[in-house]
Amino acid sequence: MSFDKSPEKIQTMFNIIADRYDFFNNLMSLSTQRYIKYKSIKNLNIKPHDKIIDLCCGTGDLSIIIKQIEPQADVTGIDFSDKMLEVAKQKSQNIQYLQGDVTALPYPDNTFDCTVMGFGLRNIQNAEKAVEEAYRILKPGGYFMHLDFGKKNLISKVFDITIPVLTKLFTENYSAYTYLIKSKQIFPEPEDLIKDFESKGFRLKKRQDFLFGVISMQVMVK
Ligand SMILES: C[S@@+](CC[C@H](N)C(=O)[O-])C[C@H]1O[C@@H](n2cnc3c(N)ncnc32)[C@H](O)[C@@H]1O
Repeated sequence: MSFDKSPEKIQTMFNIIADRYDFFNNLMSLSTQRYIKYKSIKNLNIKPHDKIIDLCCGTGDLSIIIKQIEPQADVTGIDFSDKMLEVAKQKSQNIQYLQGDVTALPYPDNTFDCTVMGFGLRNIQNAEKAVEEAYRILKPGGYFMHLDFGKKNLISKVFDITIPVLTKLFTENYSAYTYLIKSKQIFPEPEDLIKDFESKGFRLKKRQDFLFGVISMQVMVK
């Protein structure tokens, strides 16, 4: 199955749903998404003054959690949707937000102690380039934490059936959420994703599954 993931289409879609994004995420995940994000970030052993970048930061959840865990961390969030960034800025303090494309990051090699990406890669047309960029800007020995949908098991299928019903009831952006399901269905399962990351030079440090494997987190080391 192939479908349009052109940057223009993705950017427009996230601009349209930005105001309702957090509400709908909480609804879809039955309010577990914040806990999952928190547990994922906890794996990184962030230290004061670590330089961290949240790729495809959207409305800023991962950046905000990093700051809560380590207030002295130097956190930047980058995303190409100005509307998602507006919501992020309203929710946070002491985080730098930058509008930009994660497939062409404006940083020298070996800049960051950690790079994190939550629910982003699935939406990127040139995902390979985004992973190469996440690797390039990371310091040797640094961690890349990736979080997204995982196994396509029975629970995941229940999710695929429930989402359209919830979107019809609670949002006016039905097409954005049919996109979400399609993007989820063609996204590699964690085993294959880890191989893709390894092919770019990363080593697996830890994998953690949530919600019976429907969501999966990988910590990769450069
Ligand atoms: C599903 S949201 C995830 C937001 C947030 N990380 C979270 O965990 O809730 C995906 C985000 O990726 C951004 N995005 C997709 N492709 C991008 C690209 N090439 N460069 C920068 N941002 C991108 C979108 O604008 C959107 O805000």
